[in-house]
Amino acid sequence: MTTDILIRGGTLVGENGRQRADLLCHDGLIAAVGADLAAPAGASVIDAGGCFVLPGGIDPHTHLQLPMMGTVVADDFFTGTAAAAAGGTTTILDFVGPDKGQSPLDALAAWRQKAAKAGIDYGFHMTVSWWGERFAAEMPSLVRDHGVASFKFFLAYKGGLMLPDEDILAGFLRCRDLGALPQVHAENGELIAHLQHKLLAEGIRGPKGHPLSRPSQCEGEATLRAITMAEILEMPLYVVHVSTAEAAEAIARAQARGVKVIGETLPGFLAIDASVYDDPDFDIAAGHVMSPPYRPAGHPEALWKAVEAGALSITGTDHCCFTRAQKRLGAGDFTKIPNGCGGIEDRMNILWALGVEGGHLSAERFVALTSANAAKIFNLWPRKGNLVVGADADIAILDPAKSKTITAAAQHQNTDFSVWEGRRLKGSVVHTVAGGRHLWADGDLRAEAGGGRYLPRKPFGPAYGG
Ligand code: URP
Ligand code: ZN
Ligand code: ZN
Repeated sequence: MTTDILIRGGTLVGENGRQRADLLCHDGLIAAVGADLAAPAGASVIDAGGCFVLPGGIDPHTHLQLPMMGTVVADDFFTGTAAAAAGGTTTILDFVGPDKGQSPLDALAAWRQKAAKAGIDYGFHMTVSWWGERFAAEMPSLVRDHGVASFKFFLAYKGGLMLPDEDILAGFLRCRDLGALPQVHAENGELIAHLQHKLLAEGIRGPKGHPLSRPSQCEGEATLRAITMAEILEMPLYVVHVSTAEAAEAIARAQARGVKVIGETLPGFLAIDASVYDDPDFDIAAGHVMSPPYRPAGHPEALWKAVEAGALSITGTDHCCFTRAQKRLGAGDFTKIPNGCGGIEDRMNILWALGVEGGHLSAERFVALTSANAAKIFNLWPRKGNLVVGADADIAILDPAKSKTITAAAQHQNTDFSVWEGRRLKGSVVHTVAGGRHLWADGDLRAEAGGGRYLPRKPFGPAYGG
C-alpha cells in the first residue's frame, strides 16, 4: 500500500486535450481527477501550480545491462530505471537478447532475474538473435504465457545479430500467426560490412569511419525492404530508431498506401548531426558512436517534419550507454567501439524543450509521442499513457519555467558521458510518480530497487486492428 498523493493545482494534459484539475493517487492508481479535491488523511500533497501534469513517459526502446561488443551496458536495471524516473519516465520496454542458439525462454528467465531490481515498471521485447526451429517453437509460449508480444529482427550487424531475409521472412510469418509485432533495426548489413573493410584497409580507423561506413541509403534501403515484406505479408511492422530522411519517407509512403508501419525516432536524431564525429577528442567522437549513426545536417530537419506529419509517432531512447573507458575498446578500430548512447533520463526534458518550446509540438502531441502512442501500440493502453481514473498512477510533473543544463557530472545515468553535454533546456520534470510512489521530488531521487513490476502484454494489439 502506497501513501496517497494529491497533485494539486496543475494543468493535466492528455493526448487529446488539457484541463485544470487536481489528481489523487491511491493504492498505485489514479483514484480521482477533478477540481479542488480534498487531501485524504495522511496524504502527501504535491503543489503543481504553474506546471503541466503529464502521463509518465514510456520509453519503448532501452538496453539495460546488455552484454555487447565485449562489454556490458553501464546502466543496470536499477541505475537505468532510477535515471529514467529522474527524467519523468515511468515505464520501459527493454530487449531480451538470447545468445546464439540459446533458448529464448531461458534468456527471458535470465532477463526477468536481472530486471527484478528495476525501480519502475518494465516489459520486454525479444531480440531474434538467431533463427531456427527451437526459436520458432518457443514463440507461442513467449507470447501467450509470458506476455512478450514483440520481436526485433536485425537487418544489420553482419556476423552478429543480422539475419538473412529468408529467416526474417519466416520470423515475420511466425509473428503474424501469433499476433506479435515485428520490429526491425533497418540498415543494410552487407553494404556496411563491405564499407567497414574498405575503410579500415584505407587506414581510416578512428570514430569518423563509423558514419562513413553507414551511409543513409543503407537505412533507406533496409527500411523499404522490411516494409515490403510486411506489406506483402499483410501484417504490421515497427521500425526502431529511424534516423534518416529516406527511411522516414519510406514509412510515410507506406502509411499512405495503407500499410500499418509504425515509425520510432530518438531525440538525438532530431537534434544532433554527424559533425560530432569530427571532434578531435576520441572520447567525444566515440561517445556518439551508435547505430544508426547521427546523420548529416538536413536529416534532423526532415525527421521533425515526419514527426509533425505523424509518420513518426513514437519516441524512444535506445538507451545503451557506455563509459568513456568502455568506448576506448575501439581505439584504433572504429568497428570495435561499443555501439550505443545514453538518454533514458533526458528524453522527456529534451523533447519538451526542443519540441514544445521549439514550436514543433503542442503539449498534447508531446504526450502522444512520449507515452500514449507507445501505450497503444504495445498494448499497455488504457492502463498507461493516460491520466484517467483507474489507470496506473504514473505521472510526470513538468515545470515549463524551470531551466536545466544537462551535464554528465550531474546526471543519474551510470556513465561519465552525455551526448547532451552543456545543453540548456527550458522546461524540466520536477516530480515523478510511478505506480503511486513519489520517486523524483525536485532533485531528490527516491527510486528503490524492486519497486517496478513486470508488464506482460497481450498480442493482437492495435497494430493488428485489435
Ligand atoms: O548503437 C545502438 N543502437 N546500440 C544498441 C543496439 C541497437 O542497435 O539498437
Ligand atoms: Zn538497433
Ligand atoms: Zn536498440
